[in-house]
Amino acid sequence: MTDRKQAAALDSSVPHSARIWNYWLGGKDNYEADRAMGDQILAYFPEIVENARGNRYFLCRAVRHLTGEAGIRQFLDIGTGLPTVDNIHEIAQGLAPETRIVYVDNDPLVLAHARALLTSTPEGATDYLDADVRDPDAILERAARTLDFSQPVALMLLGVLQFVEDTDEARRVVAALLDALPAGSCLALSHPTNAVRGERMTTAVRQWNEGGGSPRMTLRTPEQVAVFFDGLDVLPPGIVSTADWRPELLDVGPTGPIDDFGGVGVKR
Ligand SMILES: C[S@@+](CC[C@H](N)C(=O)[O-])C[C@H]1O[C@@H](n2cnc3c(N)ncnc32)[C@H](O)[C@@H]1O
Repeated sequence: MTDRKQAAALDSSVPHSARIWNYWLGGKDNYEADRAMGDQILAYFPEIVENARGNRYFLCRAVRHLTGEAGIRQFLDIGTGLPTVDNIHEIAQGLAPETRIVYVDNDPLVLAHARALLTSTPEGATDYLDADVRDPDAILERAARTLDFSQPVALMLLGVLQFVEDTDEARRVVAALLDALPAGSCLALSHPTNAVRGERMTTAVRQWNEGGGSPRMTLRTPEQVAVFFDGLDVLPPGIVSTADWRPELLDVGPTGPIDDFGGVGVKR
């Protein structure tokens, strides 16, 4: 963990990504500094709340699809965030109680709240790993205690790769994780862009980075997001604004394009 990230995680006076995200989603696990930074960005760019909500509802719809239609029974979710309503295990085990989920985040605050993520059904299992997405080997080794890597796994990378500044490194991470998964496994991924709101979104992210938001954030284009799916069969409707990804699976959330792009791909 970088010094900046550690300081932010442990110091409630430093605005922090997981807590600001929680604030924008209407949660209570945030402090004055998080709300101040969250409000500063909101004042300039109120649509950011739609990005957060749209991304979260995309997660819900993707898990419904993966557990239902795709029949996946194992999830590896990296960059989990603070527990909220409709965590992955609640949706997936609600449909298939035997589902096994490993949550991963590198934020001590998420670790402190991880108990709420570990309320598995007796038939399934949940685990939490305090680990960094930039260390896929360590994640895979530890996740193998809970997940069977000879069976399909849904790799969930929602709203996390923007915190890996170097695009080549982010691609290597995704490739290394997918490489360890068998055919039939899936990738669900979402990432902030500025394709919809242009300069206003760019400025909001600059405010984040220059205001000491932790960790620093990198925007990518929808085309760069699509590259993370190289070698996979991308399911319809493709790599799209996540508000437009199979909205019929859950009739809530923002309508119309948001600056959060992603999709679901299958490894053949
Ligand atoms: C914007 S939240 C996304 C939460 C959730 N995936 C969602 O879509 O609602 C990003 C999360 O990624 C975590 N994160 C950031 N950098 C990370 C890293 N290098 N390794 C693991 N997790 C990281 C943060 O701590 C935060 O909890």
